[in-house]
Amino acid sequence: MERVISGIRPTGNLHLGNYFGAVKSFVKMQDEYDCMFFIADWHSLTTHPTPENIRSSVKTILSEYLACGIDPEKAPIYVQSDVKQVLELYLYLNMNAYLGELERVTSFKEKVRKQPDNVNAGLLTYPCLMAADILMHKADKVPVGKDQEQNMEMARLFARRFNRIYNVEYFKEPASFYFADKAVKVPGLDGTGKMGKSEGNCLYLCDDEKTVTKKIMRAVTDQGPTQLNQEKPEVIQNLFTLCELLSGKEAADYYNDLYNRMEIRYGDMKKQMAADANTLLAPIRERILAYSSDDALLEKIMRQGAEAAAERAEKTIEEVREIIGFRKI
Ligand code: TYM
Repeated sequence: MERVISGIRPTGNLHLGNYFGAVKSFVKMQDEYDCMFFIADWHSLTTHPTPENIRSSVKTILSEYLACGIDPEKAPIYVQSDVKQVLELYLYLNMNAYLGELERVTSFKEKVRKQPDNVNAGLLTYPCLMAADILMHKADKVPVGKDQEQNMEMARLFARRFNRIYNVEYFKEPASFYFADKAVKVPGLDGTGKMGKSEGNCLYLCDDEKTVTKKIMRAVTDQGPTQLNQEKPEVIQNLFTLCELLSGKEAADYYNDLYNRMEIRYGDMKKQMAADANTLLAPIRERILAYSSDDALLEKIMRQGAEAAAERAEKTIEEVREIIGFRKI
């Protein structure tokens, strides 16, 4: 059975970008694939070196994962820092990753701009740790959003390079997986760029009904089209992308038609989006509350997930040590 792995950093609550970019695919895939999911707490140190309470952030994300429908009986969920073998693979991959190519990664360049006082080596080698997460499980498919495309390319590059350097056919090249067959970039509610924790433009899965409605009703728009069949400016295109995700293609087509005829009322479109967002989120919100108050269950899921992941990881590390030529331990 094909293997699937994916992860999320515990640096806040899950938002619609995480949901449509990755979590929705996870939930669908867990019935058909050999899936594992994890919480990338080591990765979060690259931007948050002194986390206030990493353990509670991890539990928050875990509760939200579960609330979205990930079933640990089908797909073990583990915490990255519970599986130490990944560090050894990270080290080997670091030895075969070159400064020039790491410096060219767009997200690294972005971070250099955003946190000039903390351009740490972990940021630079972020793609190596992510590749270690993936290659550790010999994953075939990795559900991710569009923003992870370059990191996925690096993971494939490192897999190929490992095989070439050691003259083996060991690692497979993992493919990105998108639930709608093309990479998803969920736009932010401010109409610019992607929805993201650090951009402050998110609709969170745990937002209450009033907040959801308020945020969507305030999403940035313009004065409306001034010509028939006019090309949409970016903010409006983004609103339509969100509309299609929340309310479906038929609804988006309906409003598109109105837009083309210059009859659109953004307020109506947003009202429908808010109603559909609340229909989607109400049961998730309820389950988040239930899971987050069941500490014993969360601990059990993390422990079982760590055991399942470590077993697989240990096997990979033993094989990798043998390929490189280290002694068996
Ligand atoms: P992170 O924590 O930034 O985001 C988690 C997942 O959510 C997706 N995502 C989006 N998709 C579409 N539109 C958006 N606006 C949006 N915002 C976030 C991301 O693409 C991602 O799939 N490097 C990863 C974590 C990671 C990982 C891995 C993922 C570490 N190791 C191994 C897969 C496999 C990250 O920072 O995701």
